[in-house]
Amino acid sequence: MLRKKDLLGLKDLTVEEIEYILDHTAEMKDVLLSKNAIDNLSDKCVTTLFYENSTRTQNSFLLASQMLGAKTLTVNVATSSVKKGESLVDTGKTLDALLTDVIVIRHSMAGAPELLAKNVKASVINAGDGMNEHPTQALLDIFTMREKFGTIKGLKVTLVGDIKHSRVARSNFWGLIKLGAEVSVVGPQTLLPKGINELGCEVYTDIEEAIIGANVVMGLRLQLERQKSGLFPSKSEYAELFAVTSEKIANCCPDALVMHPGPVNRGIEIGSDVTDGANSVIEEQVTNGVAVRMAVMDILAGGR
Ligand code: CP
Repeated sequence: MLRKKDLLGLKDLTVEEIEYILDHTAEMKDVLLSKNAIDNLSDKCVTTLFYENSTRTQNSFLLASQMLGAKTLTVNVATSSVKKGESLVDTGKTLDALLTDVIVIRHSMAGAPELLAKNVKASVINAGDGMNEHPTQALLDIFTMREKFGTIKGLKVTLVGDIKHSRVARSNFWGLIKLGAEVSVVGPQTLLPKGINELGCEVYTDIEEAIIGANVVMGLRLQLERQKSGLFPSKSEYAELFAVTSEKIANCCPDALVMHPGPVNRGIEIGSDVTDGANSVIEEQVTNGVAVRMAVMDILAGGR
């Protein structure tokens, strides 16, 4: 059970709640890989409401809903009444009136899912809000690490790149620290948030120092849409200093898992050969994302 009707972030979850979701994800992964849908949500409706672009998250929520037997609605924000000025709360109330049970929302404004959750009867799942959190991404990342290593406790995990603007980094950070990982971050000074070292992680500006002995190296997308200009001189200079390359992995942590939430900017955040290489679990992350979203929706709406 989760204490709340919504999943807004990992900052608010207890260790027991996170572990409960991860344990249920393992069961849901078996269902997913069988390709046989179950009927746990056959009397439920799931609506996706994405104000920002998405390939992985939106489609994996839709597939997860179908694997649980739910009906689905997709609000295409660009052609919806949002464009006539309808507010987020009124859109949410309309979806309540359409008898939706789960609203999956992505929004550029941090806090939008929380505002929606306070104003609707449906369970709200945060699929990424501004620079705040992306909880199901972090859950799928942590699930992938747990599958490979058996435990999160004591794992050395290094997050690389645009930490400041990354909701993926923030959610991973809360989840990994709670579960006992040793988390470090590395990036240009301008892409590291103020006060991050007070939150219990090591902070580096040299990638090779940061990834020595790491079990997991997670590249992050440069969030150019959330950055002011002038935070680093050029993409090529950024890549020179901070790209996760096969050479750096071979020199510093040859057995590390290489992860990335996607979409990947090949050759900038991470080398193309690393993306497709033996250490990479980027495609497994995507598959695990469906299982995590099945688990979360089954727990929130399926009455588990
Ligand atoms: N990782 C992630 O959130 O990808 P999408 O933007 O494609 O959903």
